[in-house]
Amino acid sequence: MFQLHNKSSYTLEDIEDNSIDAIVTDPPYGISYQNNYWDKDLPSREVWENSFKKIKHGGFGLVFSSVRLMHRLMVDLEDSGFLIKDVLFWSYLNGMPKSRNVGLLIDKELGVESEKVGEYKYVQGYKKEGADSYKTSKKYKLSPSSELGKIYDGAGLGLKPAYEPIILIQKPLEKGLNVAKNVVKYGTGALNFEETRIPYEKNEGKVGHNPHEKGRVSSNIIRTDKQEDGYDKFFLVPKVRQHKDDFNFHPTLKPVELMQHLVKLTTFQDQTILDPFMGSGSTGVACMELKRKFIGYELDENYIEIAKRRIDESLKKPELF
Ligand SMILES: C[S@@+](CC[C@H](N)C(=O)[O-])C[C@H]1O[C@@H](n2cnc3c(N)ncnc32)[C@H](O)[C@@H]1O
Repeated sequence: MFQLHNKSSYTLEDIEDNSIDAIVTDPPYGISYQNNYWDKDLPSREVWENSFKKIKHGGFGLVFSSVRLMHRLMVDLEDSGFLIKDVLFWSYLNGMPKSRNVGLLIDKELGVESEKVGEYKYVQGYKKEGADSYKTSKKYKLSPSSELGKIYDGAGLGLKPAYEPIILIQKPLEKGLNVAKNVVKYGTGALNFEETRIPYEKNEGKVGHNPHEKGRVSSNIIRTDKQEDGYDKFFLVPKVRQHKDDFNFHPTLKPVELMQHLVKLTTFQDQTILDPFMGSGSTGVACMELKRKFIGYELDENYIEIAKRRIDESLKKPELF
């Protein structure tokens, strides 16, 4: 039902060609997020070229990306043979702006001391691996003192991030086959809308000429928060807040509910999903809960232990049987 490999996924040599139904993965973004050693670069194109060989014709993939390097990842995916079908936006409101007050930078550049106008307790936004509490420190609120610094007071360097892109890719159908023939031959080529429909809100008028009982087709926007318009057209899933007592300290943990949505969208029951960058195994947990087979690769042995434990725990859930 599942296989976990504690090694690099680049060659994918353990997997037969044309045997995977879908790929759902959250690879390194190449932005050195929180200085994680494994996030220094985007993965080599080799992993996408090999993924292309392993996936069946018509099979879909969903690949998380940073906004800044999405273009490079998309080129790697496309040059490996995949079609770029869409980009899903997982949008949230609580991203942390990574900006600086340019007014204060100007004071520093001019050798002028900025004015202390108050104090605050700074709480680090994430917990260091192995630490049991969030780090806090006392900081001063500063205001620019120089004339130029005052003009640029509050000016910044980057917008508050409010979404993560997820690239939807597909291996082309087998040459000479239409969608139906490809599905008959391989079971791949169609997205699974029936399992991912967004139910209509109570009292909401149904949409379209032929409204579907289960709701509207899932869209390419996924949100963490409800709109204020009384109903919501989008799949909603909150971000994970790491808890200090949780054994899972993976810094880029994705919500299982989100992974379930992506697994359902790209596969049907009993099909096989590959995650070449498994981390703490959120895709695997989603697969077990949805009765999909799972193959995961992870380089770091600490993370693979966490993934094994999470997958084992999810298999013990009585509601699955
Ligand atoms: C963004 S994280 C995935 C986190 C995952 N979504 C979760 O919920 O836990 C990417 C993972 O890829 C792993 N990784 C990086 N390069 C790898 C490689 N060549 N082969 C296998 N795993 C790799 C890293 O150790 C890291 O845990």
